[in-house]
Amino acid sequence: MKPKVLVTREVFDETLEYLGAHCQFESNQEDVPLEPGELARRLADKDGVMCCLPDRVDATLLAGSPHLKVVANIAVGYNNVDLAACTARGIMVTNTPGVLDDSTADLAWTLMLGAARRLTELERRVRNGEWTGWCLKQWLGVDVHHATLGIFGMGRIGQAIAKRAGGFDMKVIYHNRNRVAPDIERRLNAAFVSKEELLRRADFVVLQMPYSPETHHMIGAAELKQMKPSAILINSTRGGVVDDAALIAALKGGVIRAAGLDVFENEPRLNPKFLELDNVVLSPHVGSSTEATRRAMAMTAAKNLVAALTGATPPNLLNPDARRR
Ligand code: DGY
Repeated sequence: MKPKVLVTREVFDETLEYLGAHCQFESNQEDVPLEPGELARRLADKDGVMCCLPDRVDATLLAGSPHLKVVANIAVGYNNVDLAACTARGIMVTNTPGVLDDSTADLAWTLMLGAARRLTELERRVRNGEWTGWCLKQWLGVDVHHATLGIFGMGRIGQAIAKRAGGFDMKVIYHNRNRVAPDIERRLNAAFVSKEELLRRADFVVLQMPYSPETHHMIGAAELKQMKPSAILINSTRGGVVDDAALIAALKGGVIRAAGLDVFENEPRLNPKFLELDNVVLSPHVGSSTEATRRAMAMTAAKNLVAALTGATPPNLLNPDARRR
C-alpha cells in the first residue's frame, strides 16, 4: 500500500505527478487555507504532509496524527513547525533551502531600489495625475550606488544579497551569529561588525536572519534610533523580527528615511497604519515567488517527503534525531 499524504495547498501539476508515483495523495487544490480543525481532521490518517507557512504544525496537531512520519515544509523558513515536538515524536521535518536564494535576494534588492527611489509612491502620484512636468528638485530619492549596505544574517540569501552589491560599488558590512569564513568575506568584500556598528553605519539595513524567539523584535524603537535618519530598512525575512508599531512611529517621525517590507507581523492582516505612509514600499510576502522558484520549492518538498516515506534520508532533513527514534 502506498503511503497516504496530505498536500495542504495548491501545488503544480508536475509536483502532483511525482507524488502520485509514490504516494496516495489528497491535495487541497482549491487553495483555501485549512482551519486548524480541518487540518487536524485531514491529517488524522496520513503518513506525511506537505505544508506551507500559514499551516501551524504544533504539538496539538501532532497528537491527533498518530501515523505522521514527515512534515515537508514548502519554504526555507520553518517557524510554523514545532521542530522539538516533531523530533520528540520521531517525525522528520524538511525545508527547501538553496532553490530560492537568488529570487529572494532579487526581491530584497527590488525593495531597496524601490524605497531609495520612492518608486511605489511616485507610481501612485503618476496614476493620480499629480505629475504636471519636470522639475529639478522633484521627488528626490537617494543613491544606492556607493552607499553602505548592512546585512543582518549572512546565510545563503544574505550572501546572495551581498554579491549583488558589487555591481553597485557598495561597501558591505554584516552581522551574523557566527562570522562567515574568511574566503567568503573576501569574495563578497564584506566586513563583520557588531550589531551596534551596523546600525550606526549602514545606509541600507537589510534583515535576512531566521525568525526565532531570539530574533523576535530584534529591531525595535531603540535600534531604529541608532540608525541614521537617512537610513532605509529592508525586511525580506520574517514578520516579527521587526516591531512593526515601532517602525511605523519611526517612519512617521523621521527617525529613519524609509522602509521596504515584504513581511509583517500578523500576516496577512498587516498594521493598517503602514497604508497611510508614503515612505514605505510594501509587498505581500513574495520573496521567493517567481514561477521557476516556486516550482522548484514544491518539487524539493515533494522529494524530501517521498525520501522520508521510502526509508531514505531526505536531502533537507532538519532534525536527524527524529530518524534515530
Ligand atoms: C521561505 O521559504 O521561508 C519564504 O518566506 C517562503 O516564501
